[in-house]
Amino acid sequence: MGNGIAQVAARTGYEVILSDVKDEFLQRGLKAIDKSLQRDVDKQRLTGDEKQSIIGRINSTTSLEDLSKAAFVIEAVTEDLGVKTEIFGRLDQITPRETILASNTSSISIARLGAATRRPDKVIGMHFMNPVPVMKLVEVIRGIATSDETYEGVRALSEKLGKTALDCNDSPGFVSNRVLLPMINEAIFALYESVATRESIDGIMKLGMNHPMGPLELADFIGLDVCLAILNVLYDGLGDPKYRACPLLKRYVDAGWLGRKTGRGFYEY
Ligand code: CAA
Repeated sequence: MGNGIAQVAARTGYEVILSDVKDEFLQRGLKAIDKSLQRDVDKQRLTGDEKQSIIGRINSTTSLEDLSKAAFVIEAVTEDLGVKTEIFGRLDQITPRETILASNTSSISIARLGAATRRPDKVIGMHFMNPVPVMKLVEVIRGIATSDETYEGVRALSEKLGKTALDCNDSPGFVSNRVLLPMINEAIFALYESVATRESIDGIMKLGMNHPMGPLELADFIGLDVCLAILNVLYDGLGDPKYRACPLLKRYVDAGWLGRKTGRGFYEY
């Protein structure tokens, strides 16, 4: 999702640094940005020159130290508490004291991320939806220590990016994934229990509920590892067995069938 966020920020006019651990991941991200902007050029919503200047505002790096002058950081690393707290600790060392450190986490506690820094007042959740250039929502999550100033800054930035910011408290899965993931999990249970085929489950939800994607297709789009990680956060954080991940989801993740990004999930790509 980091590339989508970088694209939207650069399109708004910001100078962006896209940081990742490996150059190949950065190249993949830049390729996705190029492809996404090209859609708009093809549809004559953007000129070729505008596309090039947007891309020109995005610098990429594999060194987190290059964020030393960043005024605002949006972290979008893997959905793993250990990895995220380590990154927040490092960002706290690298960036100026006044820099806001936002997380695009889909379920992890903002208070915990804040506690990994010496500036929990500047730590906040800024949860974008995929595909970021298309989806209007930013779910804004205040941790127990997040200041009013940080919150106002994030709301203002979200609006500048052309998004609608909606507030939510720091509770496992926030609102989006507390509601979405049980639906996806239930669809996986329906497949597991042979209630219907994958096409039928998705078709019923698309045609019957007017969802743009069926839940299994959406799970592949989100990433099955991400879905499992979110369900585990809900299960552990809320202590309710209704959030127990379907064994079929676990089996697919164990097999490395993670959805679109690996070429196989509930569907083949
Ligand atoms: N970049 C830019 N534009 C894109 C794009 C991308 N990556 N993907 C699609 N679009 C644009 C297309 O250009 C097209 O624009 P116009 O209608 O203005 O011409 C529009 O989106 C529709 O695209 P398509 O016609 O190609 O395909 P579609 O109608 O099937 O829509 C979709 C694709 C927007 C992804 C739609 O299927 C959808 O809304 N799916 C559900 C997405 C969703 O639920 N996202 C949230 C996931 S949960 C999450 O992200 C958070 C989490 O924590 C797990």
